[in-house]
Amino acid sequence: LAILGFVAVIGYLLGSVPFGIVMARLFGLGDLRQIGSGNIGATNVLRTGSKPAAALTLLGDAGKGALAVVVARLTVGDDAAQVAGFAAFLGHCFPIYLGFKGGKGVATFLGTLLAISLPLGAVACLTWLVTAGLGRISSLSALVAAASAPIWALWLVPQAVAVSAVLAVLIFIRHGANIRRLLAGEEPRIGAK
Ligand code: G3P
Repeated sequence: LAILGFVAVIGYLLGSVPFGIVMARLFGLGDLRQIGSGNIGATNVLRTGSKPAAALTLLGDAGKGALAVVVARLTVGDDAAQVAGFAAFLGHCFPIYLGFKGGKGVATFLGTLLAISLPLGAVACLTWLVTAGLGRISSLSALVAAASAPIWALWLVPQAVAVSAVLAVLIFIRHGANIRRLLAGEEPRIGAK
């Protein structure tokens, strides 16, 4: 149990690294919190107009979830892998480096799922992409991908149902403002300023 606690702390600290803030600074894009939705994720970085910064944010935020899972699996085992991914997700949403005010967890969720199970992660990414292709709204795609992930898991990786379900619930909670805008028909399309 002590080792799982250690894994959780390392996963959390890794997940806390806010790649959106880092990229916005590196690319000189200003303060992300004053732009668009004010969120620290790749979708909001894209609103600055910088596709490379947005792509690197997506890679970094997804990569930290995947890295946490892979390192925990190789060093401790499969149970630790899920704990590490979950902790990285919490780190992204409630980062110690930003006064616990973090992001919505979508990229980290996808990276974590990809590392927990490649087929499950791939299907979740595909769900996001298909929904984005149809609706062109990032938050809606995230909500559809999150809500369907436990169902895909039930079919593909039953041992990942619980973690996918908990992550999905947290993603919905983090998207409260987006859900209100979606219902009001006011959620901007991907890339719109
Ligand atoms: O990844 C977060 C996305 O689902 C919504 O981001 O900036 O439109 O609130 P944003």
